[in-house]
Amino acid sequence: MGKKIFSGVQPTGNLHLGNYIGAIKNFVSLQNEKDNNCVFCVVDLHAVTVKQDPKILKNSIRETTAAFLASGIDPDKSIIFNQSLVPAHSEASWILGCIARMGWLNRMTQFKEKAGKDKEKASVGLYIYPVLMAADILLYDASHVPVGEDQKQHLELSRDIAQKFNIDYEAHEFFKVPEPLIQKNFSRIMSLKDGMKKMSKSDPSDLSRINLTDTNDEIAIKIKKAKTDNEILPASEKNLKERPELENLLGIYSSLKNQSLKISISEFGGKNFSDLKKKLTDLAIEKISPISSEIKKIQSDNTYIDNILLKGAEKANKIAGKKVYEMKKIIGF
Ligand code: AMP
Ligand code: TRP
Repeated sequence: MGKKIFSGVQPTGNLHLGNYIGAIKNFVSLQNEKDNNCVFCVVDLHAVTVKQDPKILKNSIRETTAAFLASGIDPDKSIIFNQSLVPAHSEASWILGCIARMGWLNRMTQFKEKAGKDKEKASVGLYIYPVLMAADILLYDASHVPVGEDQKQHLELSRDIAQKFNIDYEAHEFFKVPEPLIQKNFSRIMSLKDGMKKMSKSDPSDLSRINLTDTNDEIAIKIKKAKTDNEILPASEKNLKERPELENLLGIYSSLKNQSLKISISEFGGKNFSDLKKKLTDLAIEKISPISSEIKKIQSDNTYIDNILLKGAEKANKIAGKKVYEMKKIIGF
């Protein structure tokens, strides 16, 4: 039997190589596996947990959709829509917020990181962000959720919420308990400027990430300026952990080339950083430039993008609307 896949990406700023390697590239493989049913959501309700400029948000929703399409997600095979078009997500989120416990949410490390020192000033939405994420997943009876390593804890929370609802309401197996799909390798792409920090949309330095919309020149400059050390490249994986920037560049190279880290190490062992950077630049341009030009092409037609989202939302509404109706019946509404 095929898998039921659900995943989401926030429309906040540029999608980068971390999103591509950690998430979108896998969305495409899962979509192309026989018998899978896939739903990919632009999670705009999640985006407003921090303040957004309305015009920029609208543009980012379309850009994220364009990036999905340009990377190979096919609206005839998968459902693609933006979350705010399907009211069941907000409704289910309220109900599940009454199932989730404060103690569970207090453990969420992403909230702690995003809220920073002054958590009294963080929005309530940011705090209950993982509950909305659980609603997204559970409404579609997703069996598998492909995400990067950073979302593992949120997924565990979704599982806890599903199980508690099923037990509390004696609704045996009403919610399917979802499995995370986190790649074993390269599930965490790091900043080009600091091998200990995740590559992120919100990093103030654009040099820290390769965006899917970057030009060839921008890609080349960013890899050239990526942080390195002065030693030659090792012939084995030993000691790689002590050289996080090297490990990251080798990881990106291996993932884009669909080969193991071991093979990449044997390719570069004894060589200089500049050799790796040169080959990585060529490879990154080869992989990203078709996506980048396709994004730009798709983005020149907003009506086309909006129609895809509307059609996707119609299909999503049918599935999620039915599930939330059943939820309401179970709880006595
Ligand atoms: P976000 O940009 O936070 O909405 O993330 C969208 C998807 O990309 C999620 O599945 C994340 O886990 C994944 N992701 C984001 N940043 C990275 C990264 N630096 N490395 C790997 N995966 C990532
Ligand atoms: N929280 C995820 C992120 O920041 C995005 C997301 C929202 C998501 N809802 C989801 C991912 C449901 C998987 C499934 O990356």
